[in-house]
Amino acid sequence: MRAVVRERYGPADVLRVAAVEVPVPGGGEAVVRVRAASLNTADLDHLLGRPRIARIATGLRRPVNRRVGVDLAGTVEAVGPGVTAFRPGDRVWADLFDSGHGALADRVRVAASALTPLPGDVPFDVAATAPHSGALALQALRSVGPVRPGERVLVNGAGGCVGPFAVQLAKARGAVVTAVDHGDKLPFLRDLGADEVVDHTREDVTRGRRRFDVVVDIADTRSLLSLRRCLAPGGRYVLVARRIGSFAEKALLGPVVGGLTGVRMGTFVWRPNRRSDLDELAALLASGGVRPVVDRRYPLDEAAEAFRRLASGAARGKILVLP
Ligand SMILES: NC(=O)c1ccc[n+]([C@@H]2O[C@H](COP(=O)([O-])OP(=O)(O)OC[C@H]3O[C@@H](n4cnc5c(N)ncnc54)[C@H](OP(=O)(O)O)[C@@H]3O)[C@@H](O)[C@H]2O)c1
Repeated sequence: MRAVVRERYGPADVLRVAAVEVPVPGGGEAVVRVRAASLNTADLDHLLGRPRIARIATGLRRPVNRRVGVDLAGTVEAVGPGVTAFRPGDRVWADLFDSGHGALADRVRVAASALTPLPGDVPFDVAATAPHSGALALQALRSVGPVRPGERVLVNGAGGCVGPFAVQLAKARGAVVTAVDHGDKLPFLRDLGADEVVDHTREDVTRGRRRFDVVVDIADTRSLLSLRRCLAPGGRYVLVARRIGSFAEKALLGPVVGGLTGVRMGTFVWRPNRRSDLDELAALLASGGVRPVVDRRYPLDEAAEAFRRLASGAARGKILVLP
């Protein structure tokens, strides 16, 4: 079978499609036939080995893990001893961020506990868009407390992998959504359902008269104080981006500034691959409450090209890789 592998950190050129042995599941494991996978910013970070400090865990000189890809949807092909939750043929999906990566392959061997049943009314290519970035958006929004109908929600950096989910999830809750990104992404953001779109190169949304009840900050491009300025009384701000310095500042100082000025500001504790999140996303994808946003589809052999497109910033929605 084929798997996308890399021997060193670097851009898409380090990737190659290798012939590898068909995996055999061990105790508590399953082998999944991958029907669709999608790329996330996390995959690019994994490929490049960034931030560098993360290499303490992933391999200082070379990546310990040669495999790539976190988001997958597929069918269980075989299960190992002790696995009772799944049987061959079951439809499943997963975010392999903390389960060994390796979604870019014909098959992947994973701990069965990393898998979630995928309902039959969610096609594989639809499901594969969502486990990582969809769950990030879901958890970020949940962390600010329930978003109520009519609340004004700002999504800063709405045009990447996570933003389209955040925009649609906020809309599904009845919010009035302002989406900020580069000017050439604004038509895309309007199509997603944003009520108002703002080009960050022309306007600093924190400076005008607008006030927001909720700010979901994916781009992390503004200071804590300017973000505080655009919050309505009782407003809630959550940082999604994980740039180390800024994350530490907003995690530590956010609650202080917020506490002193009557708002909530901070970060949230992300947990990848939580079953309840995937169940909620599946229901939304099946009902149309969240539309899958697919930019392009690539065969497995062109995975490097798929990564180049992700790195270029040109994608409008998720990039699918279809083994
Ligand atoms: N909090 C956690 O626990 C946790 C866990 C996992 C991941 N993360 C973080 O989640 C983030 C992933 O988000 P993502 O995949 O959606 O990132 P992304 O695809 O890079 O999207 C960010 C978007 O913001 C846009 N942008 C750039 N500068 C901007 C500005 N000044 N104002 C407004 N928008 C701007 C980008 O446009 P261009 O592409 O044109 O630059 C892009 O469309 C990463 O930072 C990752 O570290 C957080």
